[in-house]
Amino acid sequence: MKKLLTTFLLTALTTTTVCAATAFTDAKDALDYRQSAFTLIRHNTGDIGEMLQGKVPFDAKRVQQRADALAALATLPWDGFRTAGTEAGGGDAKAEIWADFKDFTAKADKFQLDAKALQTAAQSADQAKIKAAFATFRGNCKACHDKYKAD
Ligand code: HEC
Repeated sequence: MKKLLTTFLLTALTTTTVCAATAFTDAKDALDYRQSAFTLIRHNTGDIGEMLQGKVPFDAKRVQQRADALAALATLPWDGFRTAGTEAGGGDAKAEIWADFKDFTAKADKFQLDAKALQTAAQSADQAKIKAAFATFRGNCKACHDKYKAD
């Protein structure tokens, strides 16, 4: 009985520890979180890009789905740069981010606005509009990476 109780207590303690660490309290989880968000952003962006380049057939409905996803995904990575301890480094995030967090945040804000504009363009199903909005949206990746992402 005593052994059972000990096991129970140990399990409870371990579970609490696992639950306590989230991307919003733990720097290592924060790194995972933002990198996962960027990975999803890359896949959704890539699919629209391939459709616009004619590598895969253009499908207005699918563009809308990807753009809807991007409008939401574009809001996600940034909390992962605010978690205490995350400025100590890790991943490909450069120290310049935290040295000029205002500029970094401004770039992240513009990215989110451009994602919303892409979503609106996608709803029109007009390829010319989508192309223009996508080019603007896509420009944000390099603009930020050149300054704030290693290699
Ligand atoms: C405001 C800045 C900013 C914008 C805008 C931005 N990124 Fe990034 N991105 C970063 C930073 C910083 C990292 C490095 C994150 C890390 O390793 O901690 C990164 C990492 C990545 C990664 C690597 C993730 C991994 O698993 O290591 C991919 C892929 C990526 N970004 C794709 C994109 C794409 C595609 C866009 C545009 C559609 C984009 N990003 C827009 C800042 C940005």
